[in-house]
Amino acid sequence: MSDLPPAWWRDAVIYQIYPRSFADANGDGIGDLPGIRSRLPYLRDLGVDAVWLSPFYLSPQADAGYDVADYRTVDPIFGSVDDARCLVADAHDLGLRVIVDLVPNHSSDQHDWFRQALAEGPGSPLRGRYHFRDGRGSSGELPPNDWPSIFGGPAWTRVADGQWYLHLFAPEQPDLNWEHPAVADEFRTILRFWLDLGVDGFRIDVAHGLVKEKGLPDIGKETSWHLLDVGESPCFDRPGVHDIYRSWRTILDEYPGERIAVAEAWAPTLARVADYVRPDELHQAFNFSYMSTAWNVPAQRAMIDASLAANDAVGAPTTWTLSNHDVVRHTNRLMQDEQGDVAGKKPAAVDPAAGLRRARAATLLLLALPGSAYLYQGEELGLPEVVDLPPEVRQDPAFHRATGQDGYRDGCRVPIPWSGVTAPYGFGPEGGSSWLPQPDSWAELSVAAQDGVAGSTLSMYRDALALRRKALAGNAALTWHDAPEGVLVLDRGPEFRCTVNMGDSPVRLDAPGELLIASGPVTIEAGVAIIPADTTVWWSL
Ligand code: GLC
Repeated sequence: MSDLPPAWWRDAVIYQIYPRSFADANGDGIGDLPGIRSRLPYLRDLGVDAVWLSPFYLSPQADAGYDVADYRTVDPIFGSVDDARCLVADAHDLGLRVIVDLVPNHSSDQHDWFRQALAEGPGSPLRGRYHFRDGRGSSGELPPNDWPSIFGGPAWTRVADGQWYLHLFAPEQPDLNWEHPAVADEFRTILRFWLDLGVDGFRIDVAHGLVKEKGLPDIGKETSWHLLDVGESPCFDRPGVHDIYRSWRTILDEYPGERIAVAEAWAPTLARVADYVRPDELHQAFNFSYMSTAWNVPAQRAMIDASLAANDAVGAPTTWTLSNHDVVRHTNRLMQDEQGDVAGKKPAAVDPAAGLRRARAATLLLLALPGSAYLYQGEELGLPEVVDLPPEVRQDPAFHRATGQDGYRDGCRVPIPWSGVTAPYGFGPEGGSSWLPQPDSWAELSVAAQDGVAGSTLSMYRDALALRRKALAGNAALTWHDAPEGVLVLDRGPEFRCTVNMGDSPVRLDAPGELLIASGPVTIEAGVAIIPADTTVWWSL
């Protein structure tokens, strides 16, 4: 891959694969690595630069693989380490990079370290790799502090010998103690294991959570933390996390080919998120503030400016995302006036045509911005959030812990439709199952149904990604233009313009040049363009 240009990641389009829901080669109803391998040509043709795979390591799947029992083994439901090696090699042959997920904040309770720590009892040195404490109260019957779990309930669970252990997420996800030197050593070797296997980078799960305030102090008031909205707290975004990432950066830099890391870091301000991407730390951080921004001109424009400024200040590219495996798909979410904390919230049903129209407009805006774009599998098909999954099929651990007030992450994780008219729509072998049921209406959204169809969402993504490579190569800076109310107009260099009508009714504007692509039906008559509501247009000037 040495002939690829340097700093590939600065404007890369990175496609998130959620392995259990992408493609199921062995017919057990759960997607797997051989399934992904077989679909890599589809991703090359789509026009993305890289894929990010959510975890596929050995795991009891208490949190869909974000509870890792062995960081160097592939879970048999997904395949083997050899499958991972072949997947990386195939991807490279096709010109695609591969980013894997690293989960350093917590392990599974089935990890050898945790099992040994439990077996060895209170006071044993092995308990020092996690956060074990005695409880409060006369007989230690109360948790050691007042921290809540992000998935609901207290962040502490008591074990048979009376001690408690900390888990910011589910009880099956004990937090590792990053003050313990063995933890840091272990993760440095895990990084090398996957780098030696050939991966191009890592997405760092809960990157802001690794270091806790010394002494694990009380918050002092009743608090509930959400995945994407933790605010100031004694266990998130502590200064010590940055030393960890500096040490990881030196490892990444030892390897050829610009291996990268992207932080899932929720910090209270954009500037604090940008701290994770200072020159000697990680390469990118997800821009969740953008993902939580309402669909209106002042909010979008302000957030785009603020995001670019915060990242420019440290010389890092901004990233842009509209959907991932933790939030309501943007086909539904952008129809809400308020965005706020978007993770795991109960989704609203929306008019599918209106939701799709807005989602497509938002995507063309996102792809016109400077920096790197993250896409989530299925958005290129315009998949809606599945809002009516019955409680008994839901698997998000937060749904069950928070008794259904939270934890609605299954609706964006439904396996994607590839072909055919009945479930599983080519996700797995005909007549097979899927771990979450697919809606009856998904036949018309399948890859096969949209492939080569002018105006389909899949065609729009392919065309936009191809145009982006040509028209936006060089990553030119963004400049704004004055525009009528409800309309956003930006240029990228002297030859590219993007116009977004975020208003409720069509607008008439002088066509500034040749129309490259539009997210909806734009008409141009005598030099005047009529742009419908919720529609984005790219122009060549
Ligand atoms: C991250 C993941 C989410 C997971 C959590 C705990 O936020 O994106 O899916 O549940 O970490 O690992």
